[in-house]
Amino acid sequence: MRKKAKVVKKGELYFPNQEFKKRALIKDKAVYRKAAKNPVKFWEDLAKEVNWYKKWKKGFVHKPPYFQWFVGGKINITETALERNLKTRRNKLALIWEPEPVTERARYFTYYDLFREVNRFANALKKLGVKKGDRVGVYLPMVPEAIISMLACARIGAVHVVVFSAFSSKALQIRLQDTKAKVLITADGYYRRGEVIHLKQNADKGLKDTDVKKVVVVKRVDNEAKMRKGRDLWWHDLVKNESDWCESAVMDSEDLLFILYTSGSTGKPKGCCHVCGGYTVQANFTAKWIFDLKEDDIFWSTADVGWITGHTYGCYGPLLCGSTFIIFEGAPDWPTPDRWCDIIEKYGVTTFYTAPTAIRMFEKYGIDLIRRHKLETLQVLGSVGEPIDEAAWKMFFKEVGKERCLLVDTWWQTETGGILITSLPGVGPFKPTFAGLPFPGVKADILDEKGRSLPANKEGNLVILPPFTPGLLRTVYKNPKKFLKTYWADYGKKIYFTNDSALKDKNGLIRIVGRVDDVIKVAGHRLTTGELESAIALHKDIIECAVVGRAHDIKGEVPVAFVVSKKKKPVKKLEKEVIGLVRQEIGPIASPSKVYFVRDLPKTRSGKIMRRILRKLFTGEGLGDLSTLANPESVDNVRKIIQKSK
Ligand code: WTA
Repeated sequence: MRKKAKVVKKGELYFPNQEFKKRALIKDKAVYRKAAKNPVKFWEDLAKEVNWYKKWKKGFVHKPPYFQWFVGGKINITETALERNLKTRRNKLALIWEPEPVTERARYFTYYDLFREVNRFANALKKLGVKKGDRVGVYLPMVPEAIISMLACARIGAVHVVVFSAFSSKALQIRLQDTKAKVLITADGYYRRGEVIHLKQNADKGLKDTDVKKVVVVKRVDNEAKMRKGRDLWWHDLVKNESDWCESAVMDSEDLLFILYTSGSTGKPKGCCHVCGGYTVQANFTAKWIFDLKEDDIFWSTADVGWITGHTYGCYGPLLCGSTFIIFEGAPDWPTPDRWCDIIEKYGVTTFYTAPTAIRMFEKYGIDLIRRHKLETLQVLGSVGEPIDEAAWKMFFKEVGKERCLLVDTWWQTETGGILITSLPGVGPFKPTFAGLPFPGVKADILDEKGRSLPANKEGNLVILPPFTPGLLRTVYKNPKKFLKTYWADYGKKIYFTNDSALKDKNGLIRIVGRVDDVIKVAGHRLTTGELESAIALHKDIIECAVVGRAHDIKGEVPVAFVVSKKKKPVKKLEKEVIGLVRQEIGPIASPSKVYFVRDLPKTRSGKIMRRILRKLFTGEGLGDLSTLANPESVDNVRKIIQKSK
């Protein structure tokens, strides 16, 4: 292998070296200038490069807060993700599946293989009565069938609703009920850290009181899952005799492609609605330019399909670009802490996209372990999901990228559908803890409370200005009020409020500071403290509770709960029950790291719980003015309880 040169460092900024620049798809700022002049035209030019049945009539139509892209265009994402690649990459490897058990063989799919699998399953779905516009639940682990299911739905115009397989049955049920899905695709189980997780059992519980009539089950672990006659069908039986060909459904540009639920400001998750035309264009070009995806790249995004990163860069993006990509069933540190390094070396990964939590975990196991691996195929590293602290940035850059790889810190949201802020690898500049520049054609700004644009180095609210981007969510499923209130209320209906705070430096590079609402990121997973509170409040012995996020050196943040109870039970028992409720209602990832039983919660005179104060009790910051509290003495009591349990 040719020895790669180091990334160029000038002061505090990093830039691609000449060798990288020469091969990069985007090498200079010309594209930014062009896009800024006329963003709509810029996106329209990009849109011309994906497959359409019929070209759109209007690029962008704005009826605030609603907007549309590529109006009148007819499209099916699978025509670009599959058909287009059959022409020039028929026998190229599309998908590599790495199972968790090291003794098991990987599965490989060429573009032609994947095309046929998708068509077969699409035909099977049709036979189950799934029609264009119907919602289909997907509750699958990281197996190839997850990718095939999403594509098969897209193929026939059904709307996939993927539910993270580590979410509880209750979380599944809420999503199935809200979308009235008629079909659910799941698996008998999967492997996680050497254990079999019996997913079908969870799915069965989640199916109660839903409209689901048919359940397709992937046989993954052969754990003798119970199958209900007339309702449950094995995937392999269903596709056995299906034809390799299924006509793709002609979709309107603004038809729904998928709904993905995410945590909002209150207890109930929001169904973010993404549409066919705009999402295709944005997923294609953000993947291509940000990861500089070329013919010989091997792309590995470690995110689960249950999250937006798994949708856009673990499925659609790489396929739209005709890349080879990997999905991995297990945990990156199982069975050895450097399993992830083994995977990179085994397949010659060139592009490695992961979360700061994973990076910090890798470091915890010891740098020596990483140093044993050359990781010399790597070219571009990516980080996503939460702010990456300077130490993690430097460790990733130095120890994993060996100072020879560019590191794109990518900011985006379930709502935005694709990455909106990060510098491009062939252009730069990169700066630790800064996501970078907005993607070409994206107008981002930082505003104060009154809507005034802030100068460099001043922290404020991050917003996206018209024409936004083609992939931004169109609404919250069945809840336009929530759509309006969450994103379009703070600065009027023409400005999209991200609910993040940020600042920019003198070069215009943007640094994300964090959320301004109740969303917390636990190991990169998006949760809201409200969801946890609703779960805890179900306990009959609990009078009230508040959940806040506190800093954690590996997971970024972890939830902690403050609970006022009727004190009937021993505290240990009650703590177990509280955690059990959160696991039952949301899933183990949401488990509070600590439950504090307190006498009273700090409240304003109008009865509002002051979570801000609870948060500050962990940060060491001053608590600020407590005179507005109805019960200032509660703060001391809470503080004592925290200290006592240290
Ligand atoms: C946070 C994940 C800092 C942010 C794709 C955002 C980030 C929320 C970054 C969305 C980043 C995402 N730096 N913070 N590079 N990327 N975030 O919907 O607070 O799971 O609003 O989408 O994650 O989380 P979501």
